[in-house]
Amino acid sequence: MKKIVTVVGARPQFIKAAPVSKIVRKYYQEVLVHTGQHYDDNMSDVFFRQLAIPMPDVNLEVGSSSHADLTANIMIKLEKILIDVEPSLLLIYGDTNSTLAASITAAKMHIPVAHIEAGLRNFDLAIPEEINRVIADKLSTYLFAPTKTAVDNLKDEGLQKNVFLTGDVMYDSLVYALKIAEGKTAILNDLNLQEKKYCLVTIHRAENTDNVSYLEQIIKALGCFPERVIFPIHPRTQKVITVNGIVIPNNVSIIPSIGYLDFIVLESNARMILTDSGGVQREAYCLQIPCITVFPSTSWVETVEDGWNKLADASVDSIMNAYSHPFNLNNYRAYFGDGHAAEKTINILRDFV
Ligand code: UD1
Ligand code: UDP
Repeated sequence: MKKIVTVVGARPQFIKAAPVSKIVRKYYQEVLVHTGQHYDDNMSDVFFRQLAIPMPDVNLEVGSSSHADLTANIMIKLEKILIDVEPSLLLIYGDTNSTLAASITAAKMHIPVAHIEAGLRNFDLAIPEEINRVIADKLSTYLFAPTKTAVDNLKDEGLQKNVFLTGDVMYDSLVYALKIAEGKTAILNDLNLQEKKYCLVTIHRAENTDNVSYLEQIIKALGCFPERVIFPIHPRTQKVITVNGIVIPNNVSIIPSIGYLDFIVLESNARMILTDSGGVQREAYCLQIPCITVFPSTSWVETVEDGWNKLADASVDSIMNAYSHPFNLNNYRAYFGDGHAAEKTINILRDFV
């Protein structure tokens, strides 16, 4: 059996790998490498347990550090694994520093790279994820694009060879997990929530947390919402709140980040979602929950075009403006595929590897 090394490291990558790993293992020997970029139980292990992802074969345990330090550390440690395993292919997901590091390491060793979630762009190289995407795409041999927009973005950069429109593997996970979530979570009861009577919030992007005044503005805006706000908090955001003593309004319940099954139940029952997460934006669309994205741009333009997603700046005025005007909702369209993107991806890959 040919060997594939898959590299994951951050929360959304575990969720993306869940449906793909199951199919990879039918045809290949998969060596699953966890870089250790995310390491808290509620940012990592909980997803392996809930989504029955095979335990990583190797954990590089790089932990948290600066962009350069993290990227370099992963490269140094991953190179040794790749020398040892001699895989026929390296599989990577999304746009994190783990994605970037893995793509450079493998490309320099002439190991073909397959990038799942290729072609997403915000057209702004000040965004760290944009740098990671552009480089990972350029270095990849096989580019699996979740949307038609992503295919077009790659074409505009001259990347046309081995580009495949597959749909979104994160949507595969959502479809699967919604089926198993029922009966396995009591989150609405635990938080004393009623369906469609609360707003669900996540904020973690560097742009909204490194600048304390932006996070203060976002939290102040949440305090103006005339409804309960549930805010499962990313450790990065929690740190900024604690260090700066940001005051949390009475209607806002901050809880630690939660497992996927609890989270998607909170999403599906929310009246509205406010986020800066790429994954949460499109889950909101797929679940048909109106969403405000606190970011100047999005790579998931379809969600905005269809009226389910509004962009806002990190200011009370901009957020309240988005909040107080009705959403102009269009019909839901299957932009993200049919829940079988993972199968489609691996079937295509089998023609080559
Ligand atoms: C990373 C990705 C981002 C993705 C996000 C998913 C990059 C450049 N960014 O951002 O694209 O949307 O993951 O959640 O790769 N921390 C902990 N425990 C953990 C993990 C992180 O305490 O288990 C804290 C540390 O203080 C760390 C900070 O969070 O310094 C940021 O973590 P890091 O992985 O560097 O970036 P994210 O903001 O998580
Ligand atoms: N998520 C979760 N628990 C939480 C917050 C988010 O399971 O407390 C899931 C969410 O359903 C989505 C993914 O994490 O599938 C999004 O990850 P994140 O926002 O960290 O990263 P991004 O998508 O912005 O890269």
